[in-house]
Amino acid sequence: MTLYLTQEEVQKVLDMKSTLEAVESAFREMGNDKIEMPPRVYLHFDKGVLIAMPAYMPGLNAAGTKIVTVHPSNKKDYGLPAVIARIILNSPENGVPLAIMDGTYITALRTGAAGATGIKYLSRADSRVAGVCGAGVQGKSQVMGLMEVRPGVQKVKVYDIISEARKAFAEEMRKMYPKVEFVSVDSAREAATDSDIVITCTPSPEAFLDGAWIKKGAHVSAIGADTGAKRELMTSVIKKADKLVVDFIPQAFVTGDFRVPKEEGVITEDSIYAQLGTIVAGKKPGREKPGEITVFKATGLAIQDVGTAHKVYQLAKEKKVGKEI
Ligand SMILES: NC(=O)c1ccc[n+]([C@@H]2O[C@H](COP(=O)([O-])OP(=O)(O)OC[C@H]3O[C@@H](n4cnc5c(N)ncnc54)[C@H](O)[C@@H]3O)[C@@H](O)[C@H]2O)c1
Repeated sequence: MTLYLTQEEVQKVLDMKSTLEAVESAFREMGNDKIEMPPRVYLHFDKGVLIAMPAYMPGLNAAGTKIVTVHPSNKKDYGLPAVIARIILNSPENGVPLAIMDGTYITALRTGAAGATGIKYLSRADSRVAGVCGAGVQGKSQVMGLMEVRPGVQKVKVYDIISEARKAFAEEMRKMYPKVEFVSVDSAREAATDSDIVITCTPSPEAFLDGAWIKKGAHVSAIGADTGAKRELMTSVIKKADKLVVDFIPQAFVTGDFRVPKEEGVITEDSIYAQLGTIVAGKKPGREKPGEITVFKATGLAIQDVGTAHKVYQLAKEKKVGKEI
């Protein structure tokens, strides 16, 4: 029997706390070299792309594949979402497909959890002010992750190029976290200036975050640029950082955030302090001094999807959610 879970059913059982546990465990397994994660496989269509992302974590007894398609014109052409994802979980013991589940909500939450894991290990524990650039799906998920690991944050400044989007976002977040002050601001500069934690989560093709705005002791979470065509961090951010941490070095150097500074001769792969898993596994320290500037660059890993899907499967079985097929 295979458990089938729709997006609504995944949403019913999965919250940020459980996602964080799953994602942090996945990073720990990676840091301990206990994962199998071959490179992503791509199919190129006229209007989009299909990406297959398999991973196996023997220590967690979790194995599976995310299949995600990205068709940017889907909404306009067919009234469908641009990103459609499913995750198939297989039993490592006998190969049986244990579950097939929607992967879109899992992708949103596991990315918030990856950013939050970076914040947990790299930002100052006494961080009070955060700035978020990009008030979309990731904006929300990153704030949910942030609040889980830094409950002391009192103020969040939000910038989006669409003014209605940033205002609506601040309004929605105030309802979710009534004790936190959410302010819609008019520029990325305002969002970043004086912030202890700066989160960028936009599909911007042009770098917009300037290192001059990043204060001493701040942490930057760079989430949005996950391909070579996207870039959020100006080279000045990379130059100013004391510690550059990434989820996976080969993928980080494909994105505009690291590819461009490498082409400019500013950094090489050797400039990376650590992959996040190494820090989570305790093999290297995260933040060591209050004045350090840290950057975490996330590109998204199959282990995050499979780890979270494994958690969803356990929770759904426990709560008797979903349909056996
Ligand atoms: N690193 C990862 O693992 C990972 C995972 C999922 C998504 N992503 C990436 O994160 C980005 C955001 O995804 P999303 O699902 O939130 O998209 P979304 O469309 O829901 O939201 C993006 C928001 O960014 C705003 N924006 C665009 N350019 C901007 C700029 N220069 N300054 C400020 N705001 C700007 C848009 O107006 C929009 O509101 C995408 O590039 C996506 O591919 C990365």
